[in-house]
Amino acid sequence: MDQDQLDRFKHWFGEYTAGFYNDDAYVNANLQLKQEHTERTVQEIVLLARELGLSENEIRAAELIGLLHDIGRFPQFARYRTYNDPRSVNHCQLGVEVLRSEGVLETLATEERRWVETAVGLHGRKALPSALKGQALLFAKLIRDADKIDIFRIVVENYQQYRDDPEGFLLEIELPDVPEYTPDVLQAVLNEELIDSAKLYTLNDAKLCQLGWVYDFNFTASLRRIDQCDFLPKLFSFLPQDEQIERACRKIRQYVDTRLAAPG
Ligand SMILES: [Fe+2]
Repeated sequence: MDQDQLDRFKHWFGEYTAGFYNDDAYVNANLQLKQEHTERTVQEIVLLARELGLSENEIRAAELIGLLHDIGRFPQFARYRTYNDPRSVNHCQLGVEVLRSEGVLETLATEERRWVETAVGLHGRKALPSALKGQALLFAKLIRDADKIDIFRIVVENYQQYRDDPEGFLLEIELPDVPEYTPDVLQAVLNEELIDSAKLYTLNDAKLCQLGWVYDFNFTASLRRIDQCDFLPKLFSFLPQDEQIERACRKIRQYVDTRLAAPG
């Protein structure tokens, strides 16, 4: 893929996503969030791809995957007014369907198209299939990390805005903002286990689950980025400060420090 091709994909993305904005402020605010998330995910995946020493062609493929990874979010929110997949549609699969029905990737080499479709289709899975190999696996890992880095940024900013002005907060808060958290969710964080989103009952559960994403980063470079941006202490500050939570926060901190100190 050359730069001209990549530029044409960027143009298509702009035109396609613009079609979902209307006179509904709630819809527009949520779509805008995804648009900004996409731009920053592109920056993160390119940074990561460069850090890993990928070729210029692979860096452009990574950039394209960053650009398209959440394309399914736009029709999802327009149709269902939620980003909650279980309550609406799997936005990753929907993304692949959009790319196919619009013929977006037809100009790509077969192999590159496969990288893009695989990465878009699998970026939200709890785990990647073990059969995935080679560059398809590499790109799937890259987008999962870049996506999470930016989601860390978004959740931290959203919790801050919501705390400052709960009445004026326009975006979707999916779980009840009550002081409780679920002991099993906290235990999963302590056990270095990933948590199924269906097991989350409160907003604090969601915050704990988000902390636990550190276990799922594929590249140490991604954890270094999380560390540089101070996302972990910021996220800690939005949780109730009790002994169990502090234990979970210490556990997360230790895990990250150990991985950052490990060679390679
Ligand atoms: Fe996504």
